[in-house]
Amino acid sequence: MRRKLVAGNWKMNGSADSIRKLLQGIRDGAAEVAAVELAVFPPAVYLGLVEQQLSGAAIAWGTQNLSEQASGAYTGEIAGSMLLDFHCAYVIVGHSERRTLYGETDDLVARKFAAARKLGIKPILCVGETLDEREQGVTEAVVGRQLKAVLDLEGVGVFSDAVIAYEPVWAIGTGRNATPQQAQDVHAFIRAQLAALDPSVAGQTRVLYGGSMKASNAGELLSMPDIDGGLVGGASLDAKDFLAIAKAGC
Ligand code: PGA
Repeated sequence: MRRKLVAGNWKMNGSADSIRKLLQGIRDGAAEVAAVELAVFPPAVYLGLVEQQLSGAAIAWGTQNLSEQASGAYTGEIAGSMLLDFHCAYVIVGHSERRTLYGETDDLVARKFAAARKLGIKPILCVGETLDEREQGVTEAVVGRQLKAVLDLEGVGVFSDAVIAYEPVWAIGTGRNATPQQAQDVHAFIRAQLAALDPSVAGQTRVLYGGSMKASNAGELLSMPDIDGGLVGGASLDAKDFLAIAKAGC
C-alpha cells in the first residue's frame, strides 16, 4: 500500500512571522491526519526556522529547488549537502515554474534529481504539459519525455522511493484543476512507463497530483487509484485548507 503524501509548495511566499503561524497551525492538526504523510516546502532561507519549529513533529520538509553541482563558484545556488544540514527529507525538482521561467531543461532537471538522490534526499520530480500541448494531444509525449530524461540517467530503481508529481501547467494557480479522470489517465500512463521497466518499482512509486488542488476537490482526486497524494501550492499557505486536503486523503 502506498501511503499518501500531501506536500505544500509555498513558492516565494511568506515571512518569518507568517511561517511561524502556518507551521504552528499545521503542527496542531497533524495528529488528526496521521494516516497521510505531510511535507512542507518553504523558501530556503526559512529552513532553520522550519527545522526548529517542526522538531519532534511527524512532518517532513525540503526545498523547492537545489543545484545540480556539489559546491563551488555558483553564485546564488544552494547545494544538496546544505539541505542535509537542515535535515531536508525531500526536494522538489523540475517544477514547471523553474522550467518555464528559469529555463530548466529535462537534462538539467535529471541532473538535479541525481544530485539529490546521491545524498539520500528524496526528489519530487514534477512533470506536466501546457494547455497548448494538451490541446495538440501530446500530453503523454511531453510527460513521457520529461520522465525518460530521469530514467535514462538514473534508471527505474530509484523510483522505489522517489516521488513524481503530475502537474498540468494549465491547472497551476489557475483555479482550474484537472478532472479526477484527466489526472488519473496521466497518472496511469506514468505508472505504466515505470511498470514497463520494473513492475514492482512501479507499484511503489507515489505519483502526486498538483494544480489547483483544494479542500473541495481533494477527496475526488485522492480517491483515484493512481493518485497517491497532492503537491499543493496556494491552498498550502493556510493551515486549515492544507489539513483539510490531507484529511480528504485519510
Ligand atoms: P497551485 O500550485 O496548487 O497553487 O495550483 C501547485 C504547484 O505549483 O505545485
